[in-house]
Amino acid sequence: MIHLTEKIIVAVDGYSSCGKSSYAKLIARELDYIYLDSGAMYRTIALFALRNQLIKEFRIDTYTLINNLPKIDISFRNLEGENHTFMNGEDIEQEIRGVEVSSIVSEISKIPEIRTHLVDLQQQMGFNKGIVMDGRDIGTVVFPDAEIKIFMKANTEIRAKRRFDELAQKGIPASIDEIRKNINERDYLDMNRKVSPLVQAEDAIVLDNSTMSFGEQMQWFMELLGRKGFLKK
Ligand code: DC
Repeated sequence: MIHLTEKIIVAVDGYSSCGKSSYAKLIARELDYIYLDSGAMYRTIALFALRNQLIKEFRIDTYTLINNLPKIDISFRNLEGENHTFMNGEDIEQEIRGVEVSSIVSEISKIPEIRTHLVDLQQQMGFNKGIVMDGRDIGTVVFPDAEIKIFMKANTEIRAKRRFDELAQKGIPASIDEIRKNINERDYLDMNRKVSPLVQAEDAIVLDNSTMSFGEQMQWFMELLGRKGFLKK
């Protein structure tokens, strides 16, 4: 375990399929901090919209969805070492990772009222610090004063290959061309969204992990903590 001089917030932003969540989880474990997956919160709202037939042929009934936001309770629990997302007490971890939710979540995350609502919840969750949160706007909008801001990047080919291997391991057939296309589309949507697009915070440190192992990424993080003066001697 790593001991720090004070309790801090670590913001991990960046492109999709760069390994943000694996990295953020690893950091949280080493620091004995809480890991918070902000993308899972957008996915939860997307699942609620799907289950309540608020999406028809990619048109979202935004009005009803926004009115229902206070009724959607989102929480996280650690079950046997795995992070699980809950909606109104139900474990929805598997369902929010599926194709259906993945295909509409970008549209959901464009809606300003949904962003304001979730940013508010995320800020409450980080009120006492001691968290590692990953997403797209954590260092820019959610915690602009986060002590450590990491912006993750990786080469598109490598991201596609990692995603392909991950799916293959789960026995899900996929084509590398499709995956590459999907990655490029998601990058475009994330960067060109009107509200809180994916941008690197001015004071974020870039981590390009294209050719780095987890060990090397952890070493990089330790050096960053040292440079910033957060490592307890
Ligand atoms: O990280 P992810 O793939 O689980 O994110 C799901 C979607 O939510 C993705 O379309 C980007 C969006 N998102 C966002 O807009 N802001 C965040 N802080 C996190 C995710």
